[in-house]
Amino acid sequence: MATQVVPRQLSIQDFVSELHKFPEAAFVDTGEILSFLQRTIVAPESLSPYLNWDRQHYTRNLIDKSRLYELIAICWEVGQVSSVHNHRDQNCWMAVPIGRLQVENFHLASQDLEHGVCKLTPTNTVEMNPTHPCAVDPADPVHRVVNPTQFGERAVSLHIYSHPFDTCVVYSPEQGTCGVIKLHYTTMFGKPA
Ligand code: SIN
Repeated sequence: MATQVVPRQLSIQDFVSELHKFPEAAFVDTGEILSFLQRTIVAPESLSPYLNWDRQHYTRNLIDKSRLYELIAICWEVGQVSSVHNHRDQNCWMAVPIGRLQVENFHLASQDLEHGVCKLTPTNTVEMNPTHPCAVDPADPVHRVVNPTQFGERAVSLHIYSHPFDTCVVYSPEQGTCGVIKLHYTTMFGKPA
């Protein structure tokens, strides 16, 4: 018989303390950190120092950064969506302690960064919510995150990137184009960046 794990709730401070306990090897494959996220829900009220809302663009709020990983909270207004992007060959785990979000995954058939062209096909869409975190598939990492209008509520996602990175490749599936962009934080450790 399948057993279902009931997740425990931790404040963001305790969540960070737990993350610090993982050895470097835990960040190499996705299984161990994903299992931690499946067993753990971050208490929404503990996130308040990191929540910033902007009608124009989702906000990226740095919570913790080490040699091994960075942890950011992203605040999504209704209808906001990220670019289709990759993670520079780094692992990425996402949890959604507030609201719910969709991850739309793509298969990258070809990419020529020098000429800014690519071929992408959509593969699947996964819903994330407080009990359904996810890990980006390292073999097919291109995706975008969407807070669909029909969900009708703000959402907050926590992203663990290992290792930290500050650029990524963004793609236009419609136009078959791609290019490198620099990533910015809206706040760092609760203060404007
Ligand atoms: C971002 O980091 O700006 C996009 C969110 C993601 O990792 O999918």
